[in-house]
Amino acid sequence: MFYRPEEGHGLPHDPFKAIVAPRPIGWISTRDADGRNNLAPYSFFNGIADNPPMVMFCSMGPKPNSGEAKDSIAIIRETGRFGVNVVSQALAEQMNLTAAHYERGVDEFERAGLEVMEGRVLDLPLVAAAPVALECELWREIDLPGSAVMITGTVRAVHIRDAFLRDGRLDVTAYRPLSRLGYMDYAAVDEVFAMPRPDDLV
Ligand SMILES: Cc1cc2nc3c(=O)[nH]c(=O)nc-3n(C[C@H](O)[C@H](O)[C@H](O)COP(=O)(O)O)c2cc1C
Repeated sequence: MFYRPEEGHGLPHDPFKAIVAPRPIGWISTRDADGRNNLAPYSFFNGIADNPPMVMFCSMGPKPNSGEAKDSIAIIRETGRFGVNVVSQALAEQMNLTAAHYERGVDEFERAGLEVMEGRVLDLPLVAAAPVALECELWREIDLPGSAVMITGTVRAVHIRDAFLRDGRLDVTAYRPLSRLGYMDYAAVDEVFAMPRPDDLV
């Protein structure tokens, strides 16, 4: 088949998210100016640079039934900071619970029964059970066509749970990072293989 996005795909569900897959999930934690915690998953998410390390995530439009920005975006506009928590397969159901469209001020850490770990460099709540958590400062907010916005941030601090380090390397098979596929589908990383770069071959 062939389609141009503006003309429609004609399928029962938009295949785009299944095409750009698997996508890592940025579990975005924030604390507003009144000290209220917020947590939500975003799979239009990625690392975008490594020196200094930077990440981005995108919000698709406002909250349903309101013209207001999603809570994560509104809080980052207020405070200029956010946490990124890596979702292990063990945390899948709790991650999903935090995607509910609660009113501003509802603490998704509490709703999902997640313990908070305090940021060490920035005033942020982080997911204590996450294998890795990043403390980030807003770099730029970028308007995208339509009503989407992209948040880019600089990583100021990195927390790695020691249990997931083996021989000085992150052992992803020990925590199986969760990724988003299309539709309601997910996949966890459970097989890893290495390949030398062409320049490294003799
Ligand atoms: C796995 C997963 C990935 C998601 N990715 C995105 C995304 O990339 N962008 C987006 O706007 N919403 C995404 N959502 C929906 C948000 O999590 C949802 O709108 C949430 O209520 C936003 O919370 P907030 O208002 O506290 O920021 C995703 C939901 C799930 C379950």
